[in-house]
Amino acid sequence: MITEGENILLIDKKGKKYMIKCKGKFHSHYGILDLDELIGKDYGTKIKTHKGDEFVVLKPNFIDYIEKMRKMPQIIQPKDAAVILAVTGLSRGSNVVEAGIGSGALTIFLANVIYPGKIYCYEVREDFARIAEKNIREFKLNNVFIKIKDIYEGIEEEDIDLVALDIPEPEKVVKDAYESLKYGGFVFAYTPSLEQMLRFREKAEKYFQIKTMECILREYESRKLGTRPKTLMIGHTGFLTFGRKIF
Ligand SMILES: C[S@@+](CC[C@H](N)C(=O)[O-])C[C@H]1O[C@@H](n2cnc3c(N)ncnc32)[C@H](O)[C@@H]1O
Repeated sequence: MITEGENILLIDKKGKKYMIKCKGKFHSHYGILDLDELIGKDYGTKIKTHKGDEFVVLKPNFIDYIEKMRKMPQIIQPKDAAVILAVTGLSRGSNVVEAGIGSGALTIFLANVIYPGKIYCYEVREDFARIAEKNIREFKLNNVFIKIKDIYEGIEEEDIDLVALDIPEPEKVVKDAYESLKYGGFVFAYTPSLEQMLRFREKAEKYFQIKTMECILREYESRKLGTRPKTLMIGHTGFLTFGRKIF
């Protein structure tokens, strides 16, 4: 049931999504919506603007939420976050160390999957940490712990399943990640450039079974004239390097 002030997802007739708080009026391209009409109704309901155009109302899931939340630095896209799960087998009850938190996109993705496991996030920029904290609080996650701390100075947590690094010099964390991980746990480095990836691999080689990959996602479109790959796609996000602590 929809309650006052919660985040709702509106989808217009062209499929465009809007994540807003359910309260007062919403001015869209198609006219004004009176959101108070929705309170007490079930998700999946429809609402009309004053001009008669319809919107569907859904509860945002964590992917909708990441897509629509406020973002500052570049985020790790859900397609890449999904590969982290596919490689590491992270699941309910796993524990994670992450740096840096940025806007909290990867944090929200992982925190949803590992709950009630915990995610400990290191971040040097207080302004980014505050944005991430707000995003995490809005999504009502209570298994995320943010520290304003430079991860290059060390990792305090032990018995960790994954150390996830989205920072400029992940190679500086290789030794501390090794100490922090349980046997069978993974270190992960997200690096936009080949040079960063190679520097990380070189340092991590002696501790971890290393492999690097990237996730190239090609979406298809279906029209009257036929079905084919979309003309535009994201060419590159980052290299995904994983290492497993096995000895
Ligand atoms: C690209 S952003 C991370 C985005 C995040 N993975 C997401 O999906 O939203 C990189 C973050 O790392 C932080 N950072 C850089 N060096 C760091 C360090 N040594 N320790 C902790 N955080 C660091 C930056 O301030 C920035 O917020």
